[in-house]
Amino acid sequence: MSKSEKLTWMTDQFFDGDTSVSDTLKQYWHCEESMQEVLDGFSENTISNFPMPYGLAPNFLIDGKHYLVPMVIEESSVVAAAAAAAKYWLSRGGFKTEIIGTKKVGQLHFKFSGNTDQLKQIFPELKSYLINGVSELTENMRKRGGGVESLQLIDFNSEEKHYYQIRGEFETCDSMGANFINSILEKFGELLKLYILNHADIADQHKDVQIIMAILSNYTPDCMIRASVSCKVEELGTFAGGIDAREFADKFSTAVKIAQIDPYRATTHNKGIFNGIDSVVLATGNDFRAIEACGHAYAAKDGKYKSLSYCSVEEGVFKFWIDLPLAVGTVGGLTKLHPMAKISLKMLGNPSATELMSIITTVGLAQNFAALRSLVTTGIQQGHMKMHLQNILTHMDASPDQVSSANKHFEDKTVSFSAVRSFLDTSLTKS
Ligand code: MEV
Repeated sequence: MSKSEKLTWMTDQFFDGDTSVSDTLKQYWHCEESMQEVLDGFSENTISNFPMPYGLAPNFLIDGKHYLVPMVIEESSVVAAAAAAAKYWLSRGGFKTEIIGTKKVGQLHFKFSGNTDQLKQIFPELKSYLINGVSELTENMRKRGGGVESLQLIDFNSEEKHYYQIRGEFETCDSMGANFINSILEKFGELLKLYILNHADIADQHKDVQIIMAILSNYTPDCMIRASVSCKVEELGTFAGGIDAREFADKFSTAVKIAQIDPYRATTHNKGIFNGIDSVVLATGNDFRAIEACGHAYAAKDGKYKSLSYCSVEEGVFKFWIDLPLAVGTVGGLTKLHPMAKISLKMLGNPSATELMSIITTVGLAQNFAALRSLVTTGIQQGHMKMHLQNILTHMDASPDQVSSANKHFEDKTVSFSAVRSFLDTSLTKS
């Protein structure tokens, strides 16, 4: 079916033929046909586009460089919080980052019913055979300084009879590397079968190798970055509610510790971090599901789900940091295909993948700082509901006059759906 046919079919089947539904969906088609074709090409069965707000967080100083950060997020107050935290740290030296590693991981899962010791014995030779066998596939990446970095045979027989894994480490330079890694792993599968077949001493028809699957791992603990901020405690300043720097540092660091202790809190704490991370990941056309999966797996690496960020207050110095495995790309995938992703990357100065790791992780840390700062001072609702007020007013079809008087009215009052409803009803009665 063409897109129009799909729309007609859908409205007939699910909306009783109500054409206003398809009219609304058509309003979100891109005005340029060629651009709509690009967008349609990213997925399947597309009938329209789903718009999301594209916002800017200014004032990020990261490793001595200023950035204006694009963020795609549907939740109010996230961009404001990132921008506020960026401005706060701008006058305190900004954010520092350190790339700890850039290795990605891929796995060839297979079953082998032959002799384990023999397999282990031939593995050094097999490894060279596999690496040589993919030299054509890795040629371009090797020219850029990447390729297959290591291969390891892992024996899982004790957990699943005959199950082994070849785990590879890959350097994929500025690309996220999913296609590169998966192509190599699939080729490894073919080569492994051939190698075993050609070694009559370790394989006969009863002791065959069965390839189960070949796929990258989104868990990349060696593609790792640390982002941090620090200043003297007294430089933290004073906070709403008369909270001084020392009390703030104490409450803040306790809040981080709570997220280390309690998985219920850690989940919300890390969700706040991913508010920032996902927004930049989306804006730059990267894969937020991969990044979320990796971050949460890492948060549970000690057998218990914990905070991704840490805080220390030692010898009068407040330090707040995050360690995060993060695999992103600035070439390949959607990064150069999606017109908005292209603009985002340009706005960030066309960064390398490692520089983008620094920016994204910093925004996550900034978001976490802003959330905890609100939580341990004013509470989250004050700022959050102020922002949410605009959504409520839009939902209630408030006129521009009502919006401006509501903004004034709720400056020092608690925002809630019913409070706004009753304010609008009263203001209507009065006028
Ligand atoms: C809301 O989207 C995120 C927060 O709940 C994060 C947190 O509690 O740290 C405010």
